[in-house]
Amino acid sequence: MAVITAKDFKEVYRAKARSRDIRELSGRSDKQLTEFVNSEILTKLDINSRMSVLDVGCGDGSLLSKIPAAKRFGVVPSIQEAVRLKNSYKGKPNLHFCVSESSFLPFKGESFHTTICNGVLLILRSESEAMESIRELGRCTLPKGQIWLGEIATADELRTKRENYGSSTFRFLVFLFRKRRYKALLYWAIRLALSYMGFSDFIVQPNSHLVLKGETLVKNFTEIGMTIIWTGKHRHRDRNGQITTVESRTNYLLSKVGFS
Ligand SMILES: C[S@@+](CC[C@H](N)C(=O)[O-])C[C@H]1O[C@@H](n2cnc3c(N)ncnc32)[C@H](O)[C@@H]1O
Repeated sequence: MAVITAKDFKEVYRAKARSRDIRELSGRSDKQLTEFVNSEILTKLDINSRMSVLDVGCGDGSLLSKIPAAKRFGVVPSIQEAVRLKNSYKGKPNLHFCVSESSFLPFKGESFHTTICNGVLLILRSESEAMESIRELGRCTLPKGQIWLGEIATADELRTKRENYGSSTFRFLVFLFRKRRYKALLYWAIRLALSYMGFSDFIVQPNSHLVLKGETLVKNFTEIGMTIIWTGKHRHRDRNGQITTVESRTNYLLSKVGFS
């Protein structure tokens, strides 16, 4: 347990696998927000108990665990996350986890009725990795199957972070102090102190997200045989239950063109 400066997001999630609360694997500090995001995704998907579902970058596994499907597979990029998920969901029928990368999936072509990839493309290293990942999601999906691509960053959300404190924990605390959010300052100062004392991890995350242009995505979808069924801005629910639109993130529901 320590202060960890992660060089990429794979390292962030590998470190999060050691957290006390498995819900940290969703990457959201507000646990109820993950439930809200899961419900937003589920209302758009058409899934029944005979179907097979793949969730690439499945976080804390909570979305998959709620889906009543005949076969459920979650993919995470580190063995530490996969072990954590397997232990947490031990005994749950038809629920499997494996280690892999979104750009190289270990499944035969056309294996799943529904493929989900939420909040992952924005933390990949390059546009080519993102495009390869979309191709892989399409390859693993059955013809006419549905593909959910969620929380794609269409604008730079981390500029404020980069400009104000970057990877410096000290400047991060000064930033909180300047903003006069004393409760937040106290919370993070305690978390940082605990990690310096070895009681928990404090993960310093990378300073940029992968931003993808809508036109580039749409061109790519067409080239690999996907049509857009629905697209819309991502929505956020705060701790008071207030729902807002996140202008910098877009969600897509796609269908794989083809005949079964
Ligand atoms: C922000 S979390 C989103 C989790 C979940 N999909 C959700 O929306 O709650 C990002 C997830 O992507 C996974 N991830 C990071 N890099 C990945 C990669 N190269 N391939 C597949 N998954 C990756 C992380 O392990 C984590 O599970």
